[in-house]
Amino acid sequence: MRLVSPNMSDLLEPNIEIGKFPDGDTHIRIPDLAQVAGGSEVTVFHRLWPKQNNALVELLLILDALREEGAKITAVVPYLPYARQDKKKLTGEVASAHVLCRLLQRAGVSRLVTFDCHFLTDVGETEYQGLPISNLSMNEELIQAATEFFAGEPFDLVSPDLGSNYLVKDHGGTSMNKTRKDYDQGKIGYRDIEHMEGLPEVAQRNVLLLDDMISTGNTMIKACDLLQRAGAKQICVAATHGLFLYNCLDKLRKVSDRVFSSDTIPSPQAEVSIKPKLGAL
Ligand code: R5P
Repeated sequence: MRLVSPNMSDLLEPNIEIGKFPDGDTHIRIPDLAQVAGGSEVTVFHRLWPKQNNALVELLLILDALREEGAKITAVVPYLPYARQDKKKLTGEVASAHVLCRLLQRAGVSRLVTFDCHFLTDVGETEYQGLPISNLSMNEELIQAATEFFAGEPFDLVSPDLGSNYLVKDHGGTSMNKTRKDYDQGKIGYRDIEHMEGLPEVAQRNVLLLDDMISTGNTMIKACDLLQRAGAKQICVAATHGLFLYNCLDKLRKVSDRVFSSDTIPSPQAEVSIKPKLGAL
């Protein structure tokens, strides 16, 4: 059985109702809940971004209702928030990626399906904090979209960060290496980019910059700047998850020729759809 949250109605027909009580509490209704029999397999499709904390409560309420019926639950969460907080760099800091995965596992998720999860370094099946995860990738589809943009001209494939090397390595791509500074006071949870090295030879060459996500855009902007200085011809910027915070899209458009993402997060730049991959789940 498939249960689809309204926050994925652009991709699948929703059959869960989510509303608000007057005080802001979340109200969930699953009209088809009576069809869930003990042990039956249920796949829940629900986005956890934007408004991740709110969306998480919605998911926990849905999961609890299904767990009470004894369902075996697969949760499909296209973009996993908190995935970047997978390490403790400061004393007393919480590794929220661990917490989120443990929470989902304890809430009854027997398998999480997600796309280009930040703390994973390859596609496929794995277990993280006790939670079985299937990490799917949108790299093939994003590369195909760039092929169309470059209209038959050859292009080089580069990821701006070693962590996303798996997106490019099987397609002859190379990765740059990004280091971040220590935390600045006043910039909670964010570290500026200190250095980016490993720029390939790109003079007069088209380049597709491919990463798992564009958040503040600083990584891509820095990489575009380096590519431009090195004489790159046309630069296409693509990521699975396009958060595009702080109006970074305007800045990105100034330093590149094309910017797009997949629709794990809906936006006008989400030109490549995950929908075909959802069909198989
Ligand atoms: C590694 O840190 C990731 O692959 C991305 O490069 C990063 O998360 C992008 O963040 P931002 O857009 O804020 O630079």
